[in-house]
Amino acid sequence: MNRTRTQVGIVGAGPAGLTLAHLLHRDGIDSVVVEDKSREYVEARVRAGVIEQGIVDLLTEAGAGERLVREGLVHHGIELQFDGERHRIPLSELAGGRAIVIYGQTELVKDLIRLRLDAGQPLHFEAADVSVHDLETERPLVRYRYEGSDEELDCDVIAGCDGFHGICRPSIPAGVLSEFSREYPFGWLGILAAVAPSNDELVYAHHERGFALLSLRSRERSRLYLQCRPDEDLAKWPDDRIWEELQTRLGIPGWRLAEGAILEKGVTGMRSYVCEPMRYGHLFLTGDAAHIVPPTGAKGLNLALHDVEVLADALVEWFRSGTTIGLDQYSDTCLRRVWRAEHFSWWMTRMLHRADDEDSFDLKLQLSQLRYVTTSHAAATSLAENYVGLETV
Ligand code: FAD
Ligand code: PHB
Repeated sequence: MNRTRTQVGIVGAGPAGLTLAHLLHRDGIDSVVVEDKSREYVEARVRAGVIEQGIVDLLTEAGAGERLVREGLVHHGIELQFDGERHRIPLSELAGGRAIVIYGQTELVKDLIRLRLDAGQPLHFEAADVSVHDLETERPLVRYRYEGSDEELDCDVIAGCDGFHGICRPSIPAGVLSEFSREYPFGWLGILAAVAPSNDELVYAHHERGFALLSLRSRERSRLYLQCRPDEDLAKWPDDRIWEELQTRLGIPGWRLAEGAILEKGVTGMRSYVCEPMRYGHLFLTGDAAHIVPPTGAKGLNLALHDVEVLADALVEWFRSGTTIGLDQYSDTCLRRVWRAEHFSWWMTRMLHRADDEDSFDLKLQLSQLRYVTTSHAAATSLAENYVGLETV
């Protein structure tokens, strides 16, 4: 058994784990990142694409935003489509000048991995049988197998950044966490296509056949989604059927969606989930390990990075001065933002998706709500400030 001493053991090399490792390294705190997948897999996993201004600022100030600022596309508005018409929500005008940046999570992950490896800091991909132990003590452990050897990390704290299906949250004894969740009776079928986006801004479309979203990754790549069943069989969706359905749901008179080669496709189920507190002893949960939102509000990645910003500050303070105030407040501080994002994501999801059992009353409420947010300055401002990310919650 190889034993290594480190200050922070980080489980998971997604956006949360990699950003935390980077922020800590900038403040002279050492960590080891342990990831069970390969580097190629982690770098190719297509997920989120909308980054809030505040998160762009965090990454830039930490020296991790150079390519993000150079290649990310700044957007100042989004469009909501219903009854065959599009209505623009001028985000920046309504939310104090703040904007969003379109930059793929895959690209951010690649940037963070490169920074970590260039700094010569430990990042162990393809670690097997990862487990965490002695969480209630001052010396929690991470154990795993790596390149044929048994490894043990002797840590001051462990950061559980291993996503919703990771091992950290389930390692907390039963009865400690309170869990809150909601399942939705639908999912998203998402594609990445080699075609220039057909609209300058994102389009969230309400349609009688179900929700559709037009998004993008760059000037040459479109990212598009269709509401589907949570267990939708992709084999039933040849490329032609996907494009036809997108044309129907996103279509408006005088406009046609440009089609291209489909580079990637997948189905994502949708759920809302929060566990409280986001801490057990010397284990701190971050990002999807502690909470999930349906993607309609584009909040998942942003919340994960807000968590690690709070955790990094608290850890730096603790290692420097021994004060536990920040660590003790970690969970409550994060949960305030988490619940705001939970509500916003649920609200956007309910407003835009068609439920199988939807009766005409629900449909009338959705349309009324859509009309309200696209005509009332107050309602549009509320959507905008949540979408670009609230400064204080
Ligand atoms: P993750 O990105 O899940 O990273 C966790 C990491 O831990 C992964 O690398 C995983 O391999 C690793 N890991 C897991 N188990 C172990 C283990 N036992 N040992 C070691 N490592 C482990 N958000 C949006 O805003 N828009 C979207 O379109 C969108 N699409 C999504 C599609 C899918 C399929 C999923 C799952 C999420 C999507 N999200 C989306 C949400 C967003 O991508 C997440 O909120 C974000 O990835 C959270 O980052 P994270 O670092 O907390 O978790
Ligand atoms: C994306 O581009 O992947 C995306 C954009 C906005 C969302 C969800 C996903 O609300």
